[in-house]
Amino acid sequence: MGSSLTERDKKVIWHPYSPQKYAPEPIPVVKGHGSWIFDENGRRYLDAISSWWVTIHGHAHPYIAGKIYRQALELEQVIFAGFTHAPAVNLAEKLLGILPGNFSKIFYSDNGSTAVEVAIKMATQFWWNKGEKKRNRILAFNHSYHGDTFGAMSVSERGLFTLAFHDRLFEVNFVDPPRIGVKQDISSLLEQCVCVIYEPLLQGAGGMNVYDAKALDEFIALCRSHGVICIADEVMTGFGRTGKMFASENCVNKPDIICLSKGLTGGTMAMGVTACSKLIHDAFVTDDKKKTFFHGHSFTANPLSCAAALASLDLFKIENTFQHIGRIVRSHESFAARLAGYRNIKNIRQCGTIIAFEIPDEVSGYTSSIRDVITASGLENGVYLRPLGNTVYLMPPYCMSEEEMERVYEVVLEICTK
Ligand SMILES: Cc1ncc(COP(=O)(O)O)c(C=O)c1O
Repeated sequence: MGSSLTERDKKVIWHPYSPQKYAPEPIPVVKGHGSWIFDENGRRYLDAISSWWVTIHGHAHPYIAGKIYRQALELEQVIFAGFTHAPAVNLAEKLLGILPGNFSKIFYSDNGSTAVEVAIKMATQFWWNKGEKKRNRILAFNHSYHGDTFGAMSVSERGLFTLAFHDRLFEVNFVDPPRIGVKQDISSLLEQCVCVIYEPLLQGAGGMNVYDAKALDEFIALCRSHGVICIADEVMTGFGRTGKMFASENCVNKPDIICLSKGLTGGTMAMGVTACSKLIHDAFVTDDKKKTFFHGHSFTANPLSCAAALASLDLFKIENTFQHIGRIVRSHESFAARLAGYRNIKNIRQCGTIIAFEIPDEVSGYTSSIRDVITASGLENGVYLRPLGNTVYLMPPYCMSEEEMERVYEVVLEICTK
């Protein structure tokens, strides 16, 4: 008998966000279907967090799989500097048709962090190309999370994830996410700002903090009045998560740049998108070669990823996805009311298809050991949960049925209210 997959894995693989000394053994997965993940021992788990927030139509969706397969037989990859292809152009046209704001160009990359890197570089070079030197500050929100590469870490909260790198991150000014009636005196700072980056309505990895759309709207208006480029990081909130296709739809004032990934391909293929307005792009239309945007990744606009993203957008229509989103939003609302009856459940909040709450612990935040206990108990009960420390949240794929949702709620109540 050969070694098990888990034993072989242990010898050769370093998993993300996993302590190397005491991390629980990874579950050997063999199959996904709809809201379910199946392991090699015949056990199955409801994926209550959409596999790190990416799976929106369900696992191994045959429609998306078919489109990827057919695309793979035609063109699997081609250099995207100097070449183009129909999947990339079709997807760009489709995205520009639905994005909230006046976007004129789509820049492709590979993941959420690269979408953010591109956005920050674009905004920075916009001013450099214009010869504007007095703007040298970047603004971001306390508790924000924008990814794990150096630029993305720099604009994220200085916390546990970034601890080892603080000396190497570029300086950023952090302010609290806006709140109605709370004025922050930042006008002189804004005059020096290249850009502001924000996760609209909901800060994800920073603790599932929901904040007000109206306050954000006023904040964007203020930034704009000082000429600051507004970057909406919709890597998590995009594609229906907050109840609308994009969270920025909740604001009158739209961003100049928007970052997408995760649900973009229905959660099937790695892909990032950074869309920008004409104003931004115009600063790069010049005879001066030094003003070129020197950024690109080997797999930029990978045709398989484009085909997957197009298929995912089709599914929103074919499967009436927004009806399912509405159903999940309503069932979370009822669940919030049920949760409110338990004294050890605190700070219940909901943003569209995402519901979160805290279980008080001596150590709050990411290092709380509540997380491991809940993940383990959830798995024993056939539900995959991955709290952010003592913050428990649900972010299901939109295909999760009423019965499956109810099963998730029951398990959460069972293990979180003890
Ligand atoms: C708002 C936001 N931006 C960026 C990222 C980084 O995306 P990726 O993990 O694909 O690099 C994430 C990941 O969770 C995110 O939530």
